[in-house]
Parts: sequence; structure tokens; C-alpha cells
Amino acid sequence: MTEAMDKKFYELNLSERLAQLSRESGVPLEELQILGGNGGLTADQADHMVENAVGVFGLPLGIARNFLVNGREFLVPMAVEEPSVVAGASFMAKLARQGGGFKAEVDAPEMIGQLQVLDVANLNEARLKLEEHRLELLELASAVDPVLVRFGGGARDLQVRVIEDSAIGPFLVVHLILDVRDAMGANTINTALERIAPRVAEISGGRVHLRILSNLADRRLARATCTIPLEALAFEGYTAEKVRDGILEAWAFAEADPYRAATHNKGIMNGVDAVVLATGNDWRAVEAGAHAFAARSGRYTSLSTWSKDAQGNLCGKLEMPMAVGVVGGATRVHPAAQAGLKLMKVTSSAELAEIIVSVGLAQNLAALRALATEGIQRGHMNLHARQIAVAAGAQGDQIEKLAQQLVLEKSIRVERAEQILKEWSK
Ligand code: MEV
Repeated sequence: MTEAMDKKFYELNLSERLAQLSRESGVPLEELQILGGNGGLTADQADHMVENAVGVFGLPLGIARNFLVNGREFLVPMAVEEPSVVAGASFMAKLARQGGGFKAEVDAPEMIGQLQVLDVANLNEARLKLEEHRLELLELASAVDPVLVRFGGGARDLQVRVIEDSAIGPFLVVHLILDVRDAMGANTINTALERIAPRVAEISGGRVHLRILSNLADRRLARATCTIPLEALAFEGYTAEKVRDGILEAWAFAEADPYRAATHNKGIMNGVDAVVLATGNDWRAVEAGAHAFAARSGRYTSLSTWSKDAQGNLCGKLEMPMAVGVVGGATRVHPAAQAGLKLMKVTSSAELAEIIVSVGLAQNLAALRALATEGIQRGHMNLHARQIAVAAGAQGDQIEKLAQQLVLEKSIRVERAEQILKEWSK
């Protein structure tokens, strides 16, 4: 056995980590190599993705470990600049696996598209007429993507709503429900909406104004649950009961108060966005859906729920919209996103959504456990100190040594770091 194989993953250097990922996942090293570079995207590739491209913008890519989701092991790529996120997710996944890991499921990949229909003479009459033409409109919508239909997707439903109370008076809204299978689906649904819009105008006698998907993808929810055995919660000076009850009290705060809920949900999104981003998905879409869903009762609240079972174990649940895909968009063109999906061995949007929602739940637990006990600064500070050390000009082995010194002195400031470096160089 090599020395590297004796070490913990975080103790390895970057190239040793990649080699170990390849061994663990069985994915050839060449196919993972792109994860080990500066972001996996060349400036030329970026030039084909956005306008006025001048280069690419890098972010750290970490691998969350220990994830057991529906009985399968996953190594999860996370693109995130914030310290403690990858470590927090990995550590909580380790606790969760003591209770069998995460159980996750998703709804059918149905996206909602909206048509805003204005200038309708009689709203109720127009609504009935549109409902009478439901099948014709669904066929028209499905016809935009025969390949999707061959794979079992396509238009599923058409719903007509009347919005009574708006700044421009009452108007009609048509919802087109489309099963987008393994895509995120924005392009498909927007194309289908544009295709059916003229016919909707004819049938309703109105003017179709907006034709755009809704990011409140509440027909495409993902759910994860986990049970943390009570005894797994004890650490250092904290009893298991104290940690569990502290987490329940912290969750109750988020459940009751939007100010706290926003931060609580931000902690969930730390994990969710990092995987969404690493797999080339649209994290703004997932963010928008999450927060709109959190406010669905009229009061913004926690996306997660924490409780205890009859044995006193800690039980967590996270439910949220999860509009992510494994085909199309940046998922397809970004080489690092492709490598990340390979590493996870994910082949469907459902599997990806199940992993992401599990990471979100783990991340939420990491934050609540820290907040309910020692506070988040201790964990944050070690990594923050490394960033400060780098900012002060430390290199190689110096970085860790300087970071430790700053933590020891409880003075994690660039000026102090620079001062120490000067003293060392004398
Ligand atoms: C920091 O990025 C995330 C937390 O604020 C989340 C939370 O408060 O639950 C720690």
C-alpha cells in the first residue's frame, strides 16, 4: 500500500485526490482529469456560451464524500467559494449513513410554462373555450420535440387561470405542463409556449403577451429524508440530547420567522447550488424556485423540517422544487460538468435531483449543528485563515503553517499575516 493510500482524502494533495477518486469510482483518471484543472472550460468554449466573452471565472471544486442516497454511494462534486461547505456536507453525510443514509425521491419532471393572455372580452367564456381545445393545444405543444415524446416526455396538461387582482385589471393565464424528462427543460417549454401562443390567441380572442416558463417548478419537487441516530450526535462536551434539542430549537426559529428562515434556507442552498453549479445547471432557476416555494403559504418559512422519532433520533426532511437536467445546456457543453456527472454515475435528472436535495439536507444539518453548539466561526476560521494566509502572500507549506499561527493567535487578519511572514523571512 502506498503512503497516499494510508492517508485520509483531505490529507492528500490535489493530484492524489483525483487518482483516489478514479480508483473509488472506477472512472478512468483521464476522464476525471478535467476536474483537476482551472475550471475545465477554455476561453474559446466560453466564447460560444455567452456574448462578449473575455475568459472564464474559476471557483474551487471540492468533492463531498460519504453520501449514501437510496442505498447507493455517491462522490459529489461541489463548486463553491465558501469554506466549510464541502466539509460540512461530507461530515453530515457520515452521520446520516449511520442511520441508513438519505432516502430521496422526485416527482415527474414536469415544468410549467405560462402564457399571459390580455384583452380578452369575456374571461370565463375564453377559459371554457381554451379548455375545450385542451387536447389540440397539447398535441401542438408536443409536436415541437418529437424526440422528447419518443423518450416518454411531452405536453401533459393545460390549465387556465383567471388573475383577478392585478395592476392592469383581470386577465387570463394559461399553464402548459410539459414533461421534459432528463432536461432542465427551459428551452423546450419556451419553444412550446411560442408555438401554441398564436392558436391560444385565436381561441381566446385575446392577445398573448408573455410566453415563458415558471421557475416555481412545484410539480417537479425533490424530497430527501434522513434519520440521525441519537448517539451519533454527541461530540466534544455536548451530549447527544443537547445537540438534538438545540437543532430542533434552531429549526423552530426558522419555521416561525422569515428573517431566520432566509438564512436557514441560504444554508441549504450552499449545498444545493454548489452541486447545481458543478453539474452545469442553472442555479438561479433553482434558487428562484426554492424561495418562491418557501413562501407558498403566504409566509416565507423553512424549506426543511426537523423532528425526533419515538426513539429520540433526529429526523430531517427537505422538500423543494428541483429543475435540473443531465442533457442539454451547459450540462452538455461544459467538460467539467460532464466529468462531474460521470463521477457521480448519474444518468437521469431524477437521480441528480435526489443527490442534490440530499446534499441540501446535509448542509442544513451541518449549519444547525454548528449554530446550536459551538457556533459556526470555529470551523469557518480555520479555512478563512488559509485564505488570509494566501492573500498575505504565503506559498506552499507556509500557507498551512501561517493559517495555524493566525488561528492560534485568534487574529485572522491580512496585516497580521503579512507581519508574521516578514518575521519568518528575517
Ligand atoms: C452560511 O453560509 C450559512 C449559515 O448562515 C446557514 C444558517 O444560518 O443556517 C450558517
